[in-house]
Amino acid sequence: MRTLSVELGERSYPIHIGSGLLADGGALREALGADRAAVITNDVVAPLYLDRLLATLDEGQATPIILPDGERHKTLGTVEGIYDQLMAGAFDRKSALIALGGGVVGDIAGFAAATWLRGVRHIQIPTTLLAQVDSSVGGKTGVNHPLGKNMIGAFHQPDCVIADMAVLKTLPRREVRAGLAEVIKYGLIDDAEFFDWLAGRAKGLLALEEGLLTEAVARCCRAKAGIVARDERESGVRALLNLGHTFAHAIEAATGYGAWLHGEAVAMGMVMAADLSRRLGWLEADQARRIRNVLETDFGMPVIPPADISTDRFLELMASDKKVERGRIRFVLLRGLGRAVIADSVDPAVLAQTLAARAELCH
Ligand code: NAD
Ligand code: GLY
Repeated sequence: MRTLSVELGERSYPIHIGSGLLADGGALREALGADRAAVITNDVVAPLYLDRLLATLDEGQATPIILPDGERHKTLGTVEGIYDQLMAGAFDRKSALIALGGGVVGDIAGFAAATWLRGVRHIQIPTTLLAQVDSSVGGKTGVNHPLGKNMIGAFHQPDCVIADMAVLKTLPRREVRAGLAEVIKYGLIDDAEFFDWLAGRAKGLLALEEGLLTEAVARCCRAKAGIVARDERESGVRALLNLGHTFAHAIEAATGYGAWLHGEAVAMGMVMAADLSRRLGWLEADQARRIRNVLETDFGMPVIPPADISTDRFLELMASDKKVERGRIRFVLLRGLGRAVIADSVDPAVLAQTLAARAELCH
């Protein structure tokens, strides 16, 4: 097991990474102590892993709360249902919530923990690759508003994150690939050597080789922990984690959430960000091509945006993104491979070229 730390003073917490951590239970027992807990999970993950978790705790110590699976249930209504069960079970301030699942469960459970009795402890046990490298670390919690994704939420750091590589074996292949897009994102942001390392190990990573996964997850978590420690509330450097996301959110919104997995849209968005950076003269053409090739050829990610999203529709959707500030779309772009920067004003004519490039992106 490897243990990293998110350094936030008295709110610092460990991230444990390894294989078999759920069955072993040591990390969870240490984080929970003798406290009671509600385990928040869903009806896909529960049959696979709930018993394994409960078997490591004392009889009656934890009560499961099983949600329906899916992003469409990431709502205030679902959180209200959780409050009802916490109320019925008389969960007090000493109790903790455990999130067992992907990013959807993690965000909901984290938000319930942020708000129940004005905040109780929570432990994240992420079961998707995306949740292990991104959503379980950093304390962003929340749910969707019918008109916008993640519009309601709170910053509430977990007490502990436990990332078990063994649970990834049951993850659908498409979800693995989508998670790998977020992994690659860390290389592009500020670690060109990590990008090369990943590019050389695509087959092994896609085949879920545990040694490779542990190394990749640990490197991502170390990078995210460093960024969160410097900028917990996203007033600066944390925004770099949104590389590819402005384009991605537009694609997800235009196609109806779920048609493209978030990670797939992020891969597409990173290709568009690389293309825009190249057109602005910030990124060498061969580096932009390499980014596209690694994503497309090595990892099998989509690199051509949906034909039916017109340039105007792209612009309209990007302008309503949560990250727009005073009417300006903020992009995360590349000044080199492994050198992401925040760009507050981009020439609209150049942006239009990227949005129109389609199959020619990064060529
Ligand atoms: P998800 O939680 O929907 O999980 C994907 C699918 O895999 C679901 O059907 C889930 O039930 C299933 N699943 C989970 N673990 C499994 C396992 N081990 N074996 C088999 N099936 C399993 O999706 P996700 O990609 O993990 O998370 C996406 C969510 O994360 C979005 O709501 C997004 O907004 C959020 N997110 C939050 C942050 C943050 O910082 N809080 C960051 C990135 C994404
Ligand atoms: N997923 C982006 C962040 O945590 O800031």
